[in-house]
Amino acid sequence: MAGADIIIRNTQLIDGTGGPMTAADVAITGDRISAIGPNLGTDAAEQIDAGGLALAPGFIDAHTHDDRIVLADPGMACKISQGVTSVVTGNCGISIAPVRLSERPPAPLDLIGQEPKAFFATFSEYFAALDQSPPAVNVIAQVGHSSLRVMAMSDLNRTATAAEIETMRSALRQSLEQGAAGFSTGLAYQPAHEASTEEIEALAEVVAEFKGFHSTHMRDEGAGVMDSLAETFRIGRTAEIPVIVSHHKCAGIPNHGKSEITLPYIEKALANQRITLDCYPYVASSTVLDPYRVQEASNTVIAWSTTRPEFAGQDLTDIASEMGVDIAQAIEALQPAGAIYFNMHEDDVRRILSFPQTMIGSDGLPHDEHPHPRLWGTFPRVLGHYSRDVGLFGLEEAVRKMTSLTAQTFGIKDRGVVAEGCFADLVLFDPKEIIDSATFAEPVKPAAGISRVFVNGSCVWQEGAATGLRPGRGLQRQGLTPLNFAA
Ligand code: ZN
Ligand code: CU
Repeated sequence: MAGADIIIRNTQLIDGTGGPMTAADVAITGDRISAIGPNLGTDAAEQIDAGGLALAPGFIDAHTHDDRIVLADPGMACKISQGVTSVVTGNCGISIAPVRLSERPPAPLDLIGQEPKAFFATFSEYFAALDQSPPAVNVIAQVGHSSLRVMAMSDLNRTATAAEIETMRSALRQSLEQGAAGFSTGLAYQPAHEASTEEIEALAEVVAEFKGFHSTHMRDEGAGVMDSLAETFRIGRTAEIPVIVSHHKCAGIPNHGKSEITLPYIEKALANQRITLDCYPYVASSTVLDPYRVQEASNTVIAWSTTRPEFAGQDLTDIASEMGVDIAQAIEALQPAGAIYFNMHEDDVRRILSFPQTMIGSDGLPHDEHPHPRLWGTFPRVLGHYSRDVGLFGLEEAVRKMTSLTAQTFGIKDRGVVAEGCFADLVLFDPKEIIDSATFAEPVKPAAGISRVFVNGSCVWQEGAATGLRPGRGLQRQGLTPLNFAA
């Protein structure tokens, strides 16, 4: 293989499609994969003998809140240490643009930034900032419905007026023209909870003009989960766009086991429309602190508190007794704050992870003081714990759920598979060693078993440390070829 920059020899190649792994060498020239085959030789500037380790497409994190961290901490160690090479931002209705603020944003927008200046008035400005100071990973950005509401409405506790819907539609259209990929909603959250289905449909109609998609943190993930799925599918059918059910779960003890009815219902709907799900491999969720979620959880741990930062990492019950107050008063005293809620059943998590249309998405919260371990552990946990140790599905299927399925869902061109001509986003890992190290007690810890990670042909992570290179790109939607992205 003359002229390649790098040849990775002696790998077990998992190409991302779900097909069986095969022994192969892979050559990289510039930012692309230039050849794949047996015995590519040694004629390259850099030789890597993989010693039989697995080589896979770089993982795509389907569900992130990395909008601001990619600029604030562009090394992105929390993700590249797991083999993640691209992140989908703007989930749950929360996006960094298009927003103009004069004061602290309302929860849950404060999960990505607490200051008005953390937000961008347009996606052009956001993509320009990424160009100017590139992160280590690629970024695919969605437009958040709650961000649009904060920008367009004076009172969030009602459905939008016709004039406000028009303002949101034109801001959404401009955002998609400027390279945003799709549209997300967070109907469970206060800034969007009062929005009618019709309000979302009016916005989804604009998304359809761009052949985009709608991802949703549904109105209800507990008692009303079936109604919420029906609403989600209705919006998808009306607008004729694919839908993504974010972090599918059955939250709250009375709802444990409901994945036995949600998944067959989703399966049936798949006959008529495009649906994918994302899921993180843990029985606890994490978001802003609120009394309703505390009530439905078996226990709650504080992730951050602006007023009482010293309580990050502690159980809410212990905090209340230390303060000598009841739970409701403790919640009040800690606000604004975020929390980790133990509210799911292991059987539901396993069933949802195993569903063929389920992608892996971390939902990690990178700005939290004491984050949920999903931020540092999601991908190695699926590969090492759920695939290898528990045997939920094969390694190739685990990789498909974090690569090609995700690239197809979000229309990410030339990524998510290892094939000649595709971008050289790659992860080299040891299938026997890979495992998450982050725990609920010690959540900030790089995983074990990741040997090297390449983004656009450059090595960003090697043997337990970042190389410091930042070859990531803001991946803008291409105007003319719907559901395709170019760098
Ligand atoms: Zn969410
Ligand atoms: Cu989320």
